[in-house]
Amino acid sequence: MTTKTVAELLSQDITLQDVTVKGWVRTFRANRFIALNDGSTINNIQCVVDFENFDEALLKRITTGAAIHIKGELVESQGKGQSVEIQVKELEVLGDSDPETYPIQPKKHTFEFLRENAHLRTRTNTFSAVMRLRSSLSFAIHKYFNENGFYYMHTPIITGSDAEGAGEMFRVSTLDPKNPPLTEDGDVNYKEDFFGKETNLTVSGQLEAETFAMSLGKVYTFGPTFRAENSNTSRHLAEFWMIEPEVAFMDLAGNMDLAEDFLKSVLGYVLENNKEDLEFLDKRLQDAEKTLPQAERSPMNLLDKIKFVVENNFKRVSYTEAIDILRNSKPNKKKKFKYIIEEWGADLQSEHERYLVEKHFKCPVILFDYPANIKAFYMRLNEDGKTVRAMDILFPGIGEMVGGSQREERLEVLKEKMKALDIPEEELWWYLDLRKYGTAVHSGFGLGFERLVMFATGMGNIRDVIPYPRTPQNAEF
Ligand code: 4AD
Ligand code: MG
Repeated sequence: MTTKTVAELLSQDITLQDVTVKGWVRTFRANRFIALNDGSTINNIQCVVDFENFDEALLKRITTGAAIHIKGELVESQGKGQSVEIQVKELEVLGDSDPETYPIQPKKHTFEFLRENAHLRTRTNTFSAVMRLRSSLSFAIHKYFNENGFYYMHTPIITGSDAEGAGEMFRVSTLDPKNPPLTEDGDVNYKEDFFGKETNLTVSGQLEAETFAMSLGKVYTFGPTFRAENSNTSRHLAEFWMIEPEVAFMDLAGNMDLAEDFLKSVLGYVLENNKEDLEFLDKRLQDAEKTLPQAERSPMNLLDKIKFVVENNFKRVSYTEAIDILRNSKPNKKKKFKYIIEEWGADLQSEHERYLVEKHFKCPVILFDYPANIKAFYMRLNEDGKTVRAMDILFPGIGEMVGGSQREERLEVLKEKMKALDIPEEELWWYLDLRKYGTAVHSGFGLGFERLVMFATGMGNIRDVIPYPRTPQNAEF
């Protein structure tokens, strides 16, 4: 008799057979009904104990959080709410719990409390559903790229170049902070550090991914990235996972098509494969929003929101058009925005992005052709000389989900741009080589994985969609 998961048992239609299952006790009611969960599904299996047949001391040990092993008969359920249940024949406690101190009681806990107990929070319905969805989405991402001829590349985590300029970096060093070697000028001498130079944790794998696109054609990275921004928001982490495809011979329009098709495909995958978890999270969100004033509630429920994205075209809007819309918008005229949009060239803040997607267009929006001076050095300069072929994808409730661009493939233009921004050529000699030897149009984008998980789960705080969030003043676990 092999051990089956709860998911397998609940999907079994042949009843009246001997089964064995292991899991953690969610509740034990009336000395008779054990709700058992093993993480394989949001649902528990009900295990029915005839207490006359068991030792009282053993039954006392069946408490919330205990790990147990059950052998019994899978039978049609007498009660409501489940099709099958287990008539328990043998019962073994594998690991006791302590009902006095176990933090995950069978009641509602706040997300703040559960964050402090992140090592146990995946024993709740909400967090186990979120993590199963996270797993499913990452599988769907690899599946999409694999089926579309992309190669999966691993770009370095420790990097010697600080050129991307995507954010503050975390230093990697083995020097003694109390007594570092100094140069004649009194600065820390990083020549004596582990790598013989200054190194940091990467903020993005893009520049390296470009080298592989320019040889293998279609590639992607999916790895951890690090930003030491001191921004304590519900959408920023200091350590987050990013998916970065990069494709040779593809222009910005192709980049937008790829990003849109990709997002629809991976969200479509979870709609099909994670029904029960999504239905649970949908209901959770509706319950949570009942306490909010009508105006702050989502106009659509979670499942409809995901379906809407999968089934409708994203709106493509140039930065210039967006600025016009924003300048003429009510919150701008009535000075309700914190940052009033005065003129072309202004950087868009999240309040503006959210106005565009949530109030104006009411669907995902791809903004493109941004002013060159608010975007990174590597973006392809347009013929107008003032905008670059950049794109950001904005999602309702999330804001920026994707940032990408067509890359500057002209050596001279790129060099000039770097000079203007004081980026030393020596640091990026290899990046410039790509433009020297067989340069070509190429494009790519970065998707913040946790922001995608937020959208797919309806969770409102990015700390609740990654197992152990890293944020300012917090690196527990
Ligand atoms: O827009 P970003 O900074 O773009 C890049 O890093 C490019 N090199 C990507 C590329 O073209 N290959 O970051 C990409 C995405 C953002 O759109 C956002 O979803 C996410 O990464 N992101 C964060 N997610 C969580 N916490 C943070 N601190 C994030 N910063 C960016
Ligand atoms: Mg960005």
